Amino acid sequence: MSDEPKIKLLVVDDEQSIRKLCMTIGGSLGFSCNEAESAETAVTRLETDPPDLILSDLKLPNQSGVELLQQIKSVLPRTEVAIMTGHGSIESAVDAMKLGAYDYIEKPFRVEKLRLLLQRMAEKVRLVNENAFLRERVSAEDNLDGIIGASSGMQDVLRMISKLKDTRTPVLISGESGTGKELVARAIHFRGALAQMNFVAVDCGALVPTLMESELFGYEKGAFTGAMKTKAGLFQAANGGSIFLDEIGELPLEMQAKLLRVLQEKEVRPVGSNDRINVDVRVIAATNRDLESAYRSGNFRKDLYFRLNVVTVHLPPLRERRSDIPTLVHHFLNRYAPGSNLHVTPAAMKSLLQYDWPGNVRELENCIARAITLGDQHVMDVKDLPPAIRSEAPAGMDMTTQAAASLSTTALAEMERMTILRVFEQANGDKALAGKMLGISRATLYRKLKRYNIPLRGESPEIEKEAEAHAAAR
Ligand SMILES: Nc1ncnc2c1ncn2[C@@H]1O[C@H](COP(=O)(O)OP(=O)(O)OP(=O)(O)O)[C@@H](O)[C@H]1O
Ligand SMILES: [Mg+2]
Repeated sequence: MSDEPKIKLLVVDDEQSIRKLCMTIGGSLGFSCNEAESAETAVTRLETDPPDLILSDLKLPNQSGVELLQQIKSVLPRTEVAIMTGHGSIESAVDAMKLGAYDYIEKPFRVEKLRLLLQRMAEKVRLVNENAFLRERVSAEDNLDGIIGASSGMQDVLRMISKLKDTRTPVLISGESGTGKELVARAIHFRGALAQMNFVAVDCGALVPTLMESELFGYEKGAFTGAMKTKAGLFQAANGGSIFLDEIGELPLEMQAKLLRVLQEKEVRPVGSNDRINVDVRVIAATNRDLESAYRSGNFRKDLYFRLNVVTVHLPPLRERRSDIPTLVHHFLNRYAPGSNLHVTPAAMKSLLQYDWPGNVRELENCIARAITLGDQHVMDVKDLPPAIRSEAPAGMDMTTQAAASLSTTALAEMERMTILRVFEQANGDKALAGKMLGISRATLYRKLKRYNIPLRGESPEIEKEAEAHAAAR
């Protein structure tokens, strides 16, 4: 079905018939199965062929299943263990769960029951592995990709990051949309002393005002309709690490007062609770608004402004650091077409250097991703850029861009297909809109849909014919 690695199941039981049965069920779920007749054999398996799932009998010849469980959890904390118990040993099984077993199943069990248990365990392992993979990828990106910026404006920013990374000083990051505020916030956290602790990003503009307080500070069971159990807030989740309050200017005045108290008292009071909980969190806030004028006009609390703004890192807009553009272009070509062989023509680079980039680095990133996806596979030329960016370079413009030549790319077709599919989905199947979003003509879109065998969902044969005609007309 997919190239996901098979889930590995280890069955530990001294009774051969039970081992056989469990392995047959595991096999029917597509697991690769292994067996051990004793805890000792199981322990050697942990090292030679670490399993994802373990089904262990509670009573083993020389050692109990609970002792084995403890050993497993100390070596392979992500491996899920279920305990098989005989009649009347539920208490030990419950103890096992307290020690981290996923669940227990009483013998004799029905095949279907064990199947379901194994399926649930496998699902959990997959989720955990997926998250671990994403986390590793994110931190690898943080470390390897870094922040591009040789311009003097960005060099100042990089110097600030290295000064701030090991402190707990509150930082306010300002800059237009897409200038890299979140990237800088992450760098301050992940390059510094708090890197091992949590980094929690909160988009203050996206929080629903009525839920904001409970999201940030948590709530007590029964605090409001639907509060079925006590829940920790984002400040608690960030305890010991950093909280990134993005778009802080969007915070309503009432929440600003509450946030100020948290910063002053270093404690939160969950909604519906009388208790205060200590939190020690480094605050990194970001804004693309002019907070100073916001507090002057009464839309932002002055005291909060001064508390957050102990240090400001200002990110210059891309149009004020054009010398970074060629390096950023290479950086994004590497990201979106790794190991590629794509050649950026001097004329295309000239246009990129000249454009004003109101959406800053994010706009440049999107522009490169789009050109890779929709353009020629060997050359990125002016025609592959969005119309607004294609323009004649003024005569005599300094061309420092020959280095940008000779870039190559592979596996673009698949990327193109994926992008078209995604955009098509976003546009709800509306071809005209999808074409606009992709910046290509209807005819080109039809041609590409045909090339990639993308079906026109729910379309009548007439429309299919129209598509054919469009494609043929090119
Ligand atoms: N100096 C840089 N070097 C490399 N990549 C960058 C740089 N600045 C920004 N980027 C990339 O540009 C994109 C936008 O950056 P980011 O999300 O940090 O911007 P932002 O200022 O938070 O934007 P917004 O105000 O829209 O939230 C990200 O993919 C980021 O990795
Ligand atoms: Mg942002």
